[in-house]
Amino acid sequence: MAKVLLIDDEVTMVQMVTELLRREGHEVFPFSNFNAAVETLEAQCPELVITDLYLDKTRTHGLEILQKARALNPPSTVIVITAYATIETAVDAMKKGAFDYLEKPFKVDDLRLCIQRALSYNDAISENIYLRKQLKKKYQFNQLIGNSPHMQGVFKMIERVADTDSTILILGESGTGKELVARALHFNSRRQFAPFIPINCSALPENLLESELFGHCKGAFTGAINDKKGLFQEADGGTIFLDEIGSMPPVLQSRLLRVLQEKEVRRVGDNVPVSVNVRVLSATHEPLEKRVEEGTFREDLYYRLNVIPINLPSLRERREDIPVLTMHFLRNKVSSRTGKLFSISRKALDVLGAHDWPGNVRELENAIERACALCEDGTIRVADLPPILRHLATAEGGEDVVETPQAPPAADAVLTVGGASALPAHAMSQPVGSLRDYMRDQELTYVNRALAQVNGDKEKAAELLGVSVATLYRKLAEEDAAG
Ligand SMILES: Nc1ncnc2c1ncn2[C@@H]1O[C@H](COP(=O)(O)OP(=O)(O)OP(=O)(O)O)[C@@H](O)[C@H]1O
Ligand SMILES: [Mg+2]
Repeated sequence: MAKVLLIDDEVTMVQMVTELLRREGHEVFPFSNFNAAVETLEAQCPELVITDLYLDKTRTHGLEILQKARALNPPSTVIVITAYATIETAVDAMKKGAFDYLEKPFKVDDLRLCIQRALSYNDAISENIYLRKQLKKKYQFNQLIGNSPHMQGVFKMIERVADTDSTILILGESGTGKELVARALHFNSRRQFAPFIPINCSALPENLLESELFGHCKGAFTGAINDKKGLFQEADGGTIFLDEIGSMPPVLQSRLLRVLQEKEVRRVGDNVPVSVNVRVLSATHEPLEKRVEEGTFREDLYYRLNVIPINLPSLRERREDIPVLTMHFLRNKVSSRTGKLFSISRKALDVLGAHDWPGNVRELENAIERACALCEDGTIRVADLPPILRHLATAEGGEDVVETPQAPPAADAVLTVGGASALPAHAMSQPVGSLRDYMRDQELTYVNRALAQVNGDKEKAAELLGVSVATLYRKLAEEDAAG
């Protein structure tokens, strides 16, 4: 059942359509007067609006209704009806956001079909909003952590350039967080609701990479049995992340340069250009300048991609981040997956701080996950760490001082990759939501922390929090509903 607002100056027409809609179980608000209809439109926010285009035969009030309906939050889907159908008025209405139009006189079945399509379109849109919310939630735990001056500089740079269309080259050894930075740039930009498409240029042979990126048309090469859109087209409006850009073959480098210069792509086997609006981020773990000197990477492309470089330091160059990263992994990644809260002995933490981490943050994350799986009583000790680290322990004993990851790291040591709700404290210019939403977020963080401390036991968590079990369940249901 949907709320439908109907407006037409022909009373018999209004009666006929109202009856049809009510029979199908919809809630109908019928009008033949413009002003009253606008008031109800704004008060009820109906899912569907069916409006005549020429309400009093002189002015196109229908277009005003259309604009007001599309400006609602969420916007109503609008079907426009007109007895004066010329192709121009219909096209005008469609350009202003009408879903469809019907010419009078129309058959009842045509109207019914049109309404059905409009409402299923609405369902698809709501599903899309739901999926986007889910995605945002998924990335809420994807945070970039770093206290060190170098990482603080990286955070500032990300904030400065995220919401621009600059081409950015992310440099850093394997496992330093290049992809996480690319995601942070995308999810903190106005492109955040359009696709973020990562592609690893070293993972595919030249011909496959070309058709992946630019698409192909049927018959372009053996095996091209259908037309295929390329990733540049799929990413339209969003961001494409070209990982391991140094491995891009020379032929494709020229094609990429053309896309960046002309903002259009040509599919393999097709000469017709398609314009695309895509932000390009790229990353490499090898010094590209060397490739340019050797002549295996185009110099002009290098300058085009490297408009703004972001250099990620290796973990051994910022050892002061090891404890805060360790606590982050224990609290956010391990606890949220297992429902258990792990601690670590001070001695084991010192060992982590002394290792050189050739695999950088990824290696640290893996070592912590492994230790959590091995440790017996919820506290990681030196013996639970990978064997190659154990010799770094200084003396026997001394494992009784234990660190528990309770408080989140200081706000300015965190940059949230997805969503603007948890940006660092110095991002004061970011738009804020309602105070109620903020309070609810805080409450849920606290509830989740209590649950983690009692290994997911809801009765114990309720006791800790001083609320009834029913209240705890309600809070958790609210969290699910909020997405
Ligand atoms: N600053 C950070 N804070 C929190 N997690 C991080 C940070 N840097 C990296 N990670 C985590 O480390 C892992 C590796 O990060 P990512 O894949 O972004 O690295 P990369 O530089 O792209 O590596 P590669 O060169 O091997 O592709 C991921 O699980 C990521 O979440
Ligand atoms: Mg990567």
